[in-house]
Order: sequence, then C-alpha cells, then structure tokens
Amino acid sequence: MDLQTLIRDIPNFPQPGILFRDITTLLAHPQGLRFTIDELTRRFQGWGIDAVVGPESRGFIFGVPLAYTLGCGFVPVRKPGKLPGPVHQREYALEYGTDRLEIHQDGIQPHQRVLVVDDLLATGGTARAVGELVHQAQGELVGFGFVIELAGLGGRKQLPPAPVETLITYG
Ligand code: PRP
Ligand code: ADE
Repeated sequence: MDLQTLIRDIPNFPQPGILFRDITTLLAHPQGLRFTIDELTRRFQGWGIDAVVGPESRGFIFGVPLAYTLGCGFVPVRKPGKLPGPVHQREYALEYGTDRLEIHQDGIQPHQRVLVVDDLLATGGTARAVGELVHQAQGELVGFGFVIELAGLGGRKQLPPAPVETLITYG
C-alpha cells in the first residue's frame, strides 16, 4: 500500500514556511491505519521489546496499538506537569526556545528493552530527548520507529545510536 498518498500536505501550518504532513487522513482510512500498525509490527517483531515509549501526543496514537500487537506495555512521555508521580525530565530544543518532556521514574524497569515510537521524525529534538529519558530511567534503547521521516532535516543524526525504522520518507 502506498501510505504516502494517505498523508495530507498543508502548507504554512502551524507557521509560515512549514509544510505540515498531516496524519489525520491516514488515521481515518481503515486499511491505511491497519497497514501502518501491521507494518510497524512486522518491522519490530522478534526484537524482544519489553516496552514501547511514545511522546505526547501523536506518539500515543501509534505507540499504544504497536505495544498491543507486540505484546508489551506502553509508557507515555508527556509535556511538563502532566504525570502525577515522580519524573525524570529532559529539556529539548524547539525551533524557537526549549521545552521539557517527562517520564515516570518507575515507568521503565532497569535493563528493559525499549522501543521509542512517534509519528514523525523532523529535526530529531523530540526523539532524542525521549531516548535520553529512556537512558535516564536505565532502560536499554533498542530502536526508534516512525511513520514519517523528513530526511532533509537530518533528524537521524541527532539520535543516540540505535536502529531507526521509518515507513514513509520525504526528501
Ligand atoms: C511533532 C511530532 C513529533 C515532533 C517531531 O510533535 O509528533 O513528536 O513534532 O519534530 P522534531 O523531530 O523536530 O522534534 P509536536 O511537538 O508538534 O506535538 P504533538 O504530537 O502534540 O502535535
Ligand atoms: N512536526 C514537526 N515538523 C512537522 C511537519 N512538517 N509536519 C507534521 N508534523 C511535524
């Protein structure tokens, strides 16, 4: 299935000059959604993954069904002040300024094999911060999975060393 045809391009969102790759059209397409989760599952089955970690909010959309099909748990990474228990924190770079991501300190057990999943890899700032949180929680980071990679932004180079799988690549 050509997944790229199910992604809608919206110019100048959320700011002038950004070409937004909108996944809502893919999510609304029954066969496209099923294919996406099946394909991510096929890529990571047999890796011995103990936990999928995904960042708020679009990382939740793909991370939870993938954890379900892989037969493991899902651990959310959230924006500041949303998680009720003690957290590890990581600042990360945005286009303008910084923000912070958090994970529960007991969300990952030491040495658990962890897969980081998000909808899209752009500059890599988000996924890098999530990887660092996995390390902080003493998890073993075994890979990254994305539906979309914006290769021109060089996000892969920002990530800690681990295999990266993506389903759709834009140049
Ligand atoms: C988007 C996207 C990724 C991130 C990628 O999330 O879902 O998490 O940006 O960009 P980067 O590689 O440059 O860090 P956003 O922060 O817009 O939040 P959302 O998922 O809540 O829309
Ligand atoms: N997150 C960061 N850059 C993005 C883009 N161009 N489209 C959709 N989500 C994004």
